[in-house]
Amino acid sequence: KKVVLAYSGGLDTSVILKWLQETYGCEVVTFTADLGQGEELEPARKKAELLGIKPQNIFIRDVREEFVRDFVFPMFRANALYEGVYLLGTSIARPLISKHLVEIAAEVGADAVAHGATGKGNDQVRFELSAYALNPHIKVIAPWRLWDLTSRTRLLAYAEERQIPIAKDKYGEAPYSTDANLLHISYEGKALEDPWVEPDEAMYTRSVSPAEAPDAPTYVEIEFERGDAVGIDGVRLSPAEVLTRLNELGGQNGVGRLDLVENRFVGMKSRGIYETPGGTVLLAAHRAIESITLDRGAAHLKDEVMPRYAELIYNGFWYSPEREAIQALVDKTQERVNGTVRLKLWKGNVITAGRKSPNSLYRLDYVTFEEDSVYDQRDAQGFIKLNALRLRLGAMARGK
Ligand code: ARG
Ligand code: SIN
Repeated sequence: KKVVLAYSGGLDTSVILKWLQETYGCEVVTFTADLGQGEELEPARKKAELLGIKPQNIFIRDVREEFVRDFVFPMFRANALYEGVYLLGTSIARPLISKHLVEIAAEVGADAVAHGATGKGNDQVRFELSAYALNPHIKVIAPWRLWDLTSRTRLLAYAEERQIPIAKDKYGEAPYSTDANLLHISYEGKALEDPWVEPDEAMYTRSVSPAEAPDAPTYVEIEFERGDAVGIDGVRLSPAEVLTRLNELGGQNGVGRLDLVENRFVGMKSRGIYETPGGTVLLAAHRAIESITLDRGAAHLKDEVMPRYAELIYNGFWYSPEREAIQALVDKTQERVNGTVRLKLWKGNVITAGRKSPNSLYRLDYVTFEEDSVYDQRDAQGFIKLNALRLRLGAMARGK
């Protein structure tokens, strides 16, 4: 009996590790991913060893490039936003973690995977739907739904009894729950639960306050190929490098903060605060390059399916036939989304300053009011008349 645990090295998943060993008497295999959360991974290895995990059962992987290339970029091709504003930073990372859990389970001959998401949130759904989609026979253990360590006091007592190290830094335990990766950091719960109360400025870690940002704007040029950002300011970069750089530039200019009350898939509303500096810049840039390279019909069609696509990712259906079908549609539209966008980052704002493309559909010679060969202004008269027909018939029927 073996179980593969998504292990962060933090207190909660360390308690889960011990609890799995004690409750099931099973061999625990840990998986710790570098998703760009900005934490060292070696302490997680040390801690797993300390808790009795054999070295060959400790899996640590740098998945930053995979995360951005295979998850974040495909999602950005769709301009995905949940409920109009949320860039899905946590949602899009969960399927990747489950993919690795399931792969490692196959490698080591484990029949179960385990995660540290609570029974009240979205993450449990995302981890588990992804795991079942990739291995229909996998067993999932969600300790938060099973155990009686339901309060912080009990959890801490459990940890103390078993000599699980409890990190006591000078700030003590954070007054909110966070989740971080290369795309975003989220803050939820505890001190943030009252949606009327503004968070403390000291909470933010990835962006300066727009009020404190430099007075002079930062210009940045982002190069696109087939809808993906491939370079910044003339330098070709890998997917993870692009996002890392945009996070720096956005963060320095106070870009990408969001305070949102959202609808969780499990039914409740929750208040979340997000910092997504690079993602916010990337979305604006992608929309700008699409504005000159996409045909109107294709552009409007993908905008129509976008909310559905975003909801699928939010609800945990990354590995579903309908998400893949929409992805195929979106990817097809990106074939000629090439070119460069120039943006101005300034005090929390992302302002488009220019766009150009070898595939541009924008034609200066057709926009002007001068004579041209393809657009005859007399055609507009019939075009308007026929479009007005049902409006006129309607007005007449109402007795006008
Ligand atoms: N509410 C966001 C979402 O559902 C963020 C969840 C954060 N998760 C966490 N374990 N702190 O995508
Ligand atoms: C959790 O409940 O584990 C975090 C919040 C969420 O998943 O929505």
